[in-house]
Amino acid sequence: MRPESSAIAVEGLVKSYGRTAALRGLTMHAARGTVVCLMGPNGAGKTTVIRVLSTLTRPDGGRATVCGHDVVEAAGRVRALIGLTGQDAAVDEHLTATENLWLFARLNRLARGPARSRVAELIEAFDLGSVAARPVRTYSGGLRRRVDLAAALVAAPPVLFVDEPTTGLDPRSRRTLWELIRARARAGSTILLTTQYLEEGDQLADRIYVVDQGRAVAEGTPDELKARIGGERIEVTLARPAGLPVAAAELETLLGGRPEVDEAALTVSVLTDDRPGVLSRAIRGLDEAGVDVTDVRLRRLTLDDVFFAFTGAEPTANGHPR
Ligand SMILES: Nc1ncnc2c1ncn2[C@@H]1O[C@H](COP(=O)(O)OP(=O)(O)OP(=O)(O)O)[C@@H](O)[C@H]1O
Ligand SMILES: [Mg+2]
Repeated sequence: MRPESSAIAVEGLVKSYGRTAALRGLTMHAARGTVVCLMGPNGAGKTTVIRVLSTLTRPDGGRATVCGHDVVEAAGRVRALIGLTGQDAAVDEHLTATENLWLFARLNRLARGPARSRVAELIEAFDLGSVAARPVRTYSGGLRRRVDLAAALVAAPPVLFVDEPTTGLDPRSRRTLWELIRARARAGSTILLTTQYLEEGDQLADRIYVVDQGRAVAEGTPDELKARIGGERIEVTLARPAGLPVAAAELETLLGGRPEVDEAALTVSVLTDDRPGVLSRAIRGLDEAGVDVTDVRLRRLTLDDVFFAFTGAEPTANGHPR
């Protein structure tokens, strides 16, 4: 993709905080009207990318443009083109949800009529009707998050940055947000999203960048990334927890992959290629090792596997659907 045709173009971005290198030459692009997702473990540099792109912090090296405007040299132009919802809420605690949204609408120069209908629409979409007349400081964490996201969606800037939008949201609000983001992209906005919820990347992203230690270590559509790892995951369920280490060692010897053990679910799983007979060899091997197996299955790869394969890190507990 030619950078000048991108809504977002980031080339070799470098940024340190004191002695901590947050970005070490990160490159990524987002075509207009697409949803691009940055996925990576805590501290990978995702928020730093968004801070640079939204002109909140200056890079030490490399280059970043939004709709062709350099984020350092043309910061004012960039700010006029973007919307941002950060990892922390940015709404006014003393105002009600309605007042907050109204404020954002007016700050974004929406005329009164459209502002009123937009605010009503978002209050309804995020199910805030019953609390909308109370000051935000009386809200639960999840409710605040909803107001914050609604505020970011009041205006329709060409480029929208959303940093971990659904952390702390209930499933229904999460789906609402996904729908709103999809609708935005269909209407031509470009959305850059960071998430720990891998399912979110799967559901929303046209393109995913896996970020680790300040660099993009893999990129592609969700399906391309899964295909790049290849194969399937073989998962066995055991009768007793005592068998877990034995099964893990046995599967590692038989299949070569690094086993993942889930003690709560009594399962051990390992990535495997598609060689025929893999299932029967595993069953025979475990039987010979005296492991009491209650279930064996092959399952398709998920983005969890992609995340693990490229970063060596488990998705964090809150982002883990299992
Ligand atoms: N203001 C700051 N001062 C010092 N170090 C910082 C600052 N902001 C970020 N860092 C460091 O830079 C690195 C990248 O942080 P960043 O917040 O971009 O990661 P992240 O991918 O957003 O992580 P998370 O998933 O936890 O939100 C981390 O090592 C972090 O500790
Ligand atoms: Mg972050």
